[in-house]
Amino acid sequence: MKNIQVKLSLVFLVLFQLGLSAQELEVAKPAIIPKPSEIEWKDDFFTLQKSTVVCFNPGAETSAAWLQELLENTYTQSYTMKGENCTGFNILLEPDLEQSLGKEGYKLNISSNIVSIKAATEAGLFYGIQTLRQVFPPEIENEKVLNEIKLPQLSVTDVPKFEWRGSMLDIARSFFGPDYIKKHLDRMAFYKLNRLHLHLTDDQGWRIEIKQKPKLTELGSKGAVKGGRSGYLTQEQYKEIQEYAAARNIIIIPEIDMPGHIYSALMAYPELNCEEFSNIEPRLATPPELFHEYQVGWSKLCLDKPEVYDFVATVLGEMAEITKGEYLHIGGDEIEDERYKEFVIKADSIVRGLGKTTIGWEEVTKAAVDSTFISQRWNNKTKSVVNTRVIQSLCSSFYFDHANIPGQEMTNNWCQERGVSLKDAYTFIAKNPNTIGVEAPLWTEMVLSNDAADNRFWPRTIALAEVGWSANENKDYQDFVNRLGRHGLRLDLMDVNYFRSPEVNWNSNRNKGVFSEFMPDSKWID
Ligand code: ACM
Repeated sequence: MKNIQVKLSLVFLVLFQLGLSAQELEVAKPAIIPKPSEIEWKDDFFTLQKSTVVCFNPGAETSAAWLQELLENTYTQSYTMKGENCTGFNILLEPDLEQSLGKEGYKLNISSNIVSIKAATEAGLFYGIQTLRQVFPPEIENEKVLNEIKLPQLSVTDVPKFEWRGSMLDIARSFFGPDYIKKHLDRMAFYKLNRLHLHLTDDQGWRIEIKQKPKLTELGSKGAVKGGRSGYLTQEQYKEIQEYAAARNIIIIPEIDMPGHIYSALMAYPELNCEEFSNIEPRLATPPELFHEYQVGWSKLCLDKPEVYDFVATVLGEMAEITKGEYLHIGGDEIEDERYKEFVIKADSIVRGLGKTTIGWEEVTKAAVDSTFISQRWNNKTKSVVNTRVIQSLCSSFYFDHANIPGQEMTNNWCQERGVSLKDAYTFIAKNPNTIGVEAPLWTEMVLSNDAADNRFWPRTIALAEVGWSANENKDYQDFVNRLGRHGLRLDLMDVNYFRSPEVNWNSNRNKGVFSEFMPDSKWID
């Protein structure tokens, strides 16, 4: 009898343990966003050692430093060393890979004792590091992880869909300074976005120092939309922001919006205007005062006056001098003028004469602009007379000043009554074959604080990142939402005040060294 009892309890013990290990077998995969082109998960892991080496080859020094920075937030002591195939971490620049991976693709391989990232450029290596960062526990984002870290063994080959993966911040209606812009750049880079468009000027404020036209900032920067912040970027600050962006593979796209949306310049230099201000807008006194209202499409440069083109050339000339990237955005939206097309052609030729490529909102394609021009579609109402390269910023998918969910306070709804949901952003598919990418603008008439900007940008900007990077056949909204939920804690630790989209199961559980429960016979689950 006693024997039978012992045997039975042994059977129960074995069954009980089997039951437990059946549960332990299932470990959630790290959520990688944007979804890579190809990823193979292996049912084994790499254990981070207490001391490890980061090996790099010529040209990969900066990337080795980024990788070391990531490792600094763990228990490991790492040191860098020239070399290849070290046990530990390898980061290798291989220009020949450009044929298969392009300028931004990368390969990431995690085996039992080697983690390697290879790419043809430093941009590709940077993106390989961002993917690796998402494989590490989220706690590395703001604290040192002291528990043992196990990384899943995997093999990733990843190439972006579009060259243009952008975010736009309107710092003219309400000013956002270098600190917020840099934070935004950090977050963009983490999701492999590579263009930050700054809407620098509008009726309510002029936000960039132009040394030959000092009144633009002495007077024009003092305003903002009601409740918004005023201010401007000095040229030094602008340059520093560009350096910060470039280190993260992001190009700053400066926009000087013309010939409309220009009151902040007209009040500073009234000779650029055609009429008395009070004739065009009764609320504007003469001498002019700042403008704090919302309406658009009423101010314009006086296109009959030759000195207007001197002004345009001066401003664009200084912008070209201080801008690292190849692009200058001239705006061109929401204005009726019989000389509009002539203006666009002339402004484009000024920009090209400065050695830059011109970008404008979609209305510019009413003019027969040069074939190098890039137009940015926003309301899809313009009948174009030319084919240009296109950035897709359609308001029904990407205007993030619109509500996250219907009825959200302090949001716009003129483009789409219900607002722009996470799904609206995610499910965008470009039909125009001239599309070079996507960009989501944040207009700030009703975005008056950093927290509000975070709330409008995130998580919709993460959906945009996947639209810009991942192949259409790799996209699936429910799968995206599942992965996004697993970024909850990471976003919290990155101090992002994101909108808690109700369709997402936001996981904020702390589980340091998340993959340390992974056993040799475990299985990854989605
Ligand atoms: C725009 O929204 N006026 C480009």
